[in-house]
Amino acid sequence: MNAAARRILISGSSGLVGRPLAARLRERGDFVVRLVRGGGGAGAEQLVWHPQRGELDGTLLEGMDAVVHLAGENIAAARWSAGQKRRLRDSRVAGTRLLAQKLAECERPPRTFMCASAVGYYGDRGDETLDETAAAGEGFLPDVCRQWEASCEPLLKIGTRVVHLRIGVVLSPDGGALAKMLTPFRLGVGGRLGSGRQWMSWIALDDTVAAIVHCLDNEAIAGPVNLGAPSPVTNAEFTKTLGRVLRRPTVFPAPALALRLAFGEMADALLLASTKMEPTVLEQTGYAWKFRDLEPALRYLLGK
Ligand SMILES: NC(=O)c1ccc[n+]([C@@H]2O[C@H](COP(=O)([O-])OP(=O)(O)OC[C@H]3O[C@@H](n4cnc5c(N)ncnc54)[C@H](OP(=O)(O)O)[C@@H]3O)[C@@H](O)[C@H]2O)c1
Repeated sequence: MNAAARRILISGSSGLVGRPLAARLRERGDFVVRLVRGGGGAGAEQLVWHPQRGELDGTLLEGMDAVVHLAGENIAAARWSAGQKRRLRDSRVAGTRLLAQKLAECERPPRTFMCASAVGYYGDRGDETLDETAAAGEGFLPDVCRQWEASCEPLLKIGTRVVHLRIGVVLSPDGGALAKMLTPFRLGVGGRLGSGRQWMSWIALDDTVAAIVHCLDNEAIAGPVNLGAPSPVTNAEFTKTLGRVLRRPTVFPAPALALRLAFGEMADALLLASTKMEPTVLEQTGYAWKFRDLEPALRYLLGK
């Protein structure tokens, strides 16, 4: 290991965002330690925790310079039954509290703790423009996000720089929302969701990773940071743009009622909610966007 390399712990490093983030940090010379749930065993580059059982050996966490905490049950993995909602909440709130508490008890705690949060913090807000000072919304996702952010409290108390990454809809062909949309759109049966008037705060995967690195390196950044491109679009605009990029028609709208039948509560929270985020902190701290606009982002991501 390079003597000047920073030790950076990443949870959720096997996920859509965690994988390229770990690769990017290693590539530039940081020493990345992955915090994983079981499997593969422990070693210099990998620590094991069992967040569901509340198990994490705090002695292993000594001497990390920074932590990027991305772990959490995938939000769209299954229908939101009562049990699934408990898993979504516990994996974020209890998991973050456990990690933050153990890190805060270290003799040498990290200087920086960056914790995933989500655009879901703001809830369904119509055409309102939401910067980081906007209040949380109402409902399950805003509640979870509020509690998730509050779980970092043990580290705030000891003066660690805590950053809440309010991540928008991450666009990548390899996973997440865009990957799910590709099949119907490629088959020519894609279309707007509900009225199509709902705002969607998107961010390309490359910018998600680069913006996290920007926040990691910029000591002046603390508190919430909106990770959404400066040009959010309505669902109707997203639909038209994706259709144009794929050269497919988008004439089959999915009515809200059908979405509710198919996806239950998730339909309103993830597909029909309108959230227009403004990335004020990133703009004010000079983040250089790779993709400010949707069409070039989709063309790059989809090789079109
Ligand atoms: N992708 C998006 O559009 C988006 C939007 C807003 C917010 N976010 C948030 O950003 C974070 C990273 O997103 P992502 O898309 O990379 O997520 P992801 O692909 O679903 O990966 C999340 C990682 O969390 C760990 N994990 C899964 N289930 C877990 C559980 N029950 N308890 C604890 N850990 C669990 C897994 O890592 P291990 O198996 O290695 O432990 C997994 O690789 C997440 O917290 C997500 O909610 C993502």
